[in-house]
This record gives sequence, C-alpha cells and structure tokens, in this order.
Amino acid sequence: RGGWRGIIEEYRDRLPVGPTTPVVTLREGGTPLVPAQVLSERTGCEVHLKVEGANPTGSFKDRGMTMAITQAKEAGARAVICASTGNTSASAAAYAVRAGMVCAVLVPQGKIALGKMGQALVHGARILQVDGNFDDCLTLARQLSENYPVALVNSVNPARIEGQKTASFEIVDMLGDAPDIHVLPVGNAGNITAYWKGYREYAADGVATGTPRMWGFQASGSAPIVRGEPVKDPHTIATAIRIGNPASWAFAEQARDESGGLIDEVTDRQILAAYRLLAAQEGVFVEPASAASVAGLLKAAEQGKVDPGQRIVCTVTGNGLKDPDWAVAGAPQAVPVPVDAAAAAERLGLV
Ligand code: F0G
Repeated sequence: RGGWRGIIEEYRDRLPVGPTTPVVTLREGGTPLVPAQVLSERTGCEVHLKVEGANPTGSFKDRGMTMAITQAKEAGARAVICASTGNTSASAAAYAVRAGMVCAVLVPQGKIALGKMGQALVHGARILQVDGNFDDCLTLARQLSENYPVALVNSVNPARIEGQKTASFEIVDMLGDAPDIHVLPVGNAGNITAYWKGYREYAADGVATGTPRMWGFQASGSAPIVRGEPVKDPHTIATAIRIGNPASWAFAEQARDESGGLIDEVTDRQILAAYRLLAAQEGVFVEPASAASVAGLLKAAEQGKVDPGQRIVCTVTGNGLKDPDWAVAGAPQAVPVPVDAAAAAERLGLV
C-alpha cells in the first residue's frame, strides 16, 4: 500500500539523511530485476538484468541525483551544475525542478543523444555545449563550483555514490543474497564504485553472505583503465561512456581488485550486437552504453571465463528511447499499406 517511496525513504537508515532533511524525490529506484532467458542459456548461468532505464528520467543517475539534490537543498544551494554525456544532465535538470533550483549543464558539443538533450531542455536547464569532450566539461564544472555559488552534482560528489549504492541493496533484497558476478558498463566509474560500496555494506552487516566479483566494461575507443593511461581523444558510438579520464578511476580499480573482478573492453561492434540481442531476444530496450555490460559478459563467456551455474546480474543503465537512432539505423523499413485488411494480411505474410 502506498507503493515504492523512492530510494531515500526505502533505505533511509543507510543514507546520509536526518529527520529534517528535505527529501527531493521522483520515487526513483525499485527497478525491475528481469531474468534473462537467452543470456542464461548462452552462458549456462542464471543471468538477471537490473533495468535502470525504468527510473523516472530513464537512467540510474536518478538514484544518485535524489541524494545529491536533497543534500544541496539541505545546504541551502540555489543552483547546481554538472558535466555530462547526457544522462546526468537529464536527471539533474529534473530533480532541480523538484527542488526549485537552477540547473546548469555542460555537455560535449555534438556528442550527446537527442533524447537526453531534449530532457535537459524541457526541464529548463541552462545548457552550455562545450568545445571539448566530457573530461573537459568536468574540469570546467569543477572550476565553476569552486569559484562560484553553484553545487557540483557529478559523481565526484559523495552523495551521488551514496544514492547509487542502493541498486546493490535492491538486488540482494530481491535475490536473497549477493550474486556471484555483477557486470556493468564503466564510463566515469562512479557507478561501479557505488555498487561495490553497497555490496560491501550489506555483507559487512550480514544482510548478504558475501560480495560479487565486479566486472566492468569500457568501450574500446574509451578504455583508459584497460590501457592504464588516460585516452586523449576518446571515441565510441556509446556516447554515454565516451570518457577518457574517469574521475573515479582509482575506486574502480579498488572494486576490481578487492572483489577479484576485472575491467575489460568491448568494441562498438560487440556493444551493438548486445544492444540488438537485448531488444530482439530479451525484450529489453536499452541505450548502446548500457549494452556494454551484456557485451562484456558474452565476451567473457566466449573466452571461457564464465563458469556455468553462477548467478550473474548485468546492470543495463539507461533506456533505449534516449538514443533511438541506433534502433532505426540499418533496420528494415516499415511497410506502407492501404486501409485494407487483405492487403495488410498479405504484407504480413499471414496468407
Ligand atoms: N551507462 C550510461 C547510460 C551512462 O549514462 C553512464 C554515465 C554510464 C553507463 C557509466 O557510468 O560514469 O558511473 O561509470 N553517464 C555519465 C553522464 C557520464 O554524464 O550521464 P559511470
């Protein structure tokens, strides 16, 4: 009764809020954990998808943003700022509306999906298109927050990590224990940091009997952690993770090493194959960056790194509607028909 109240109310005792904290929420979280039949068959494992595109603005960022904007509001901030490849800006813009704050966003010129730009616009954010990449945008956003009265809500803000760790709580709450492996895409590396924190907290408190191995996947053209050095001019069709110098780099390596996990890369081709598989065979429409987790799982399985019988969760981070160009590109055209049942039946191959 009353339904899901958003991550702050659902996990209040595990988050940095007090009784008088002004909670800013769109009832984020509580997203579906969907059994993935085809992926389970392919890997011989029990694979689940944590479908974060079901959040209010269509990505996992809402978990972090409810916490970051709530904390900014509590501190009396009037304006927030973020650098973004698109989803963070969409989320910040929406939560800023709820909080009655001004939202400024810095995005890399020409490299954000149309749906995400539309969200920031319609929520009334002040948008600057920066002549540079995400890493340049983040540098600029940090400088502005240090020198002007505006709060930074990127994942370098610890409140974001606190909010995003709740995805791990939900998974353990649903499965009854931690999975054996958790797979996710890595861009600025905030989310892998957050999941690892959530899993560790539940294990430390005995809610789960252990922690999963954390498997993170970067896009090959934007894989600084895999290369061991920043990538100056990152590229990938998965614009959400087109990042050459992740802010939470060290935390991502910590998650990998402490969990006995790995951070590897997947090519754009592998990402698009996983993107199509998810939509066409699992019925789950995600944006390309989100498919990096599944592409990574399939790559690891092909390499013989996935022992059968394990319980695996792949986070799919954002909704496919954000970036539908890739769904339409190369797809067969819709077939024109007159208003005529016989003609329609014929075109559909029903006769
Ligand atoms: N998937 C999607 C859909 C994203 O939007 C992002 C990051 C990631 C994965 C990677 O998560 O950065 O925590 O490692 N998007 C940020 C943004 C950078 O600005 O929206 P991460």
